[in-house]
Amino acid sequence: MAAAGEADMVPDMTKRNIMNVILAGGVTVPFGAVVGGWLYFLYPPSKGGAGGGVIAKDALGNNVLKADWIKTQGKGARKLVQGLKGDATYLIVNDAGDDLESYGLNAVCTHLGCVVPWNAAEKKFKCPCHGSQYDKTGKVVRGPAPLSLALAHVEEGGSGEVLLKTWTETDFRTNLAPWWK
Ligand code: FES
Repeated sequence: MAAAGEADMVPDMTKRNIMNVILAGGVTVPFGAVVGGWLYFLYPPSKGGAGGGVIAKDALGNNVLKADWIKTQGKGARKLVQGLKGDATYLIVNDAGDDLESYGLNAVCTHLGCVVPWNAAEKKFKCPCHGSQYDKTGKVVRGPAPLSLALAHVEEGGSGEVLLKTWTETDFRTNLAPWWK
């Protein structure tokens, strides 16, 4: 009788397995949430476009196609597209008129954030807000702006679209680390 009573006290294997699954789930779900959160923080998903870049958009929100853009804008053109983080960004057609420069320029003035227009006659970007000036590569040549315009890489995607990617290397205009990283 005593043996039968002890047997009644021991849960059967099915119940034990269910308890183990519940216990394991109780530990792994919070653990997964914490680790997953860190992974998301360390490796956020890219916002569209190959290799973490974004496809440049024209004023109508259409993808900018490199060949069409060069043909319609012409030699030396500096025209705005929507670029990284939605910022207005200049694409630059080279002086030969047969390619884009490998860098684009964020059009936001480094003084107080006005969008800086290109003055083709003077070959400068001139800020209308407080008079800062930048040369044709976006290097600051007159204050009060303290820094040059931010750079972005310009590449061509597999379908001919223009891709903009974050510039993390040395700023070729100043030989300094990029301030916008
Ligand atoms: Fe451009 Fe002040 S915002 S000079």
